[in-house]
Amino acid sequence: MEKLTGKNISVFISGRGTNLRSLIKEAKKKNSIFNIKLVICNNENAKGLVYAKKNKIPFLITDFKDRKKSEKLIIDKVTKNKIDLICLAGFMKILSSHFINKIKTPILNIHPSLLPKYKGLNTHFRAIKNKDKFSGTTVHAVNSKLDSGKIILQKKIKINKNDNAKTLEKKILKIEYKLYPRAIKKFLSSF
Ligand code: GRF
Repeated sequence: MEKLTGKNISVFISGRGTNLRSLIKEAKKKNSIFNIKLVICNNENAKGLVYAKKNKIPFLITDFKDRKKSEKLIIDKVTKNKIDLICLAGFMKILSSHFINKIKTPILNIHPSLLPKYKGLNTHFRAIKNKDKFSGTTVHAVNSKLDSGKIILQKKIKINKNDNAKTLEKKILKIEYKLYPRAIKKFLSSF
């Protein structure tokens, strides 16, 4: 059986990058089964780039003004770096089905709702507006339909009466920091 240590992952971000931060923390653990070898970002002003810089993780910034060109650059980088798994973490660009079919590397995403509920944006606001009793977060495989691939792991939390979109976001982020590393381990252990 192939040894599980040292699978290479690439994390794609667009902004704050706190999930990237939590994945770096996990990768630094002694028995971690993955390394973060590459960060991809579409926004040169993304706060999250600071975590790549601090931890000396190579990063590529490509702005997606020409999506075809950006996706080609990413495919080259991912292939050269022998990436085993791509993890989208707050990556706000939609990857084309050409990219998803062409790249051989599997892709996961973390989405802040109990999928299949609330695909797309403003998930916390929509859950509060609909007076839902629960919300949560989902790690799923990425296919060419938005937020629709196979669910790897999901975690549910209660929405309190006094929660608003901001407080709910905060609570959900906290559970994401635990769920994403667990989902990555689960996924990597299956191949
Ligand atoms: C997270 O809530 C994630 O579920 C969603 O975007 C947010 C990213 O936050 N896809 P951060 O950039 O990791 O802080």
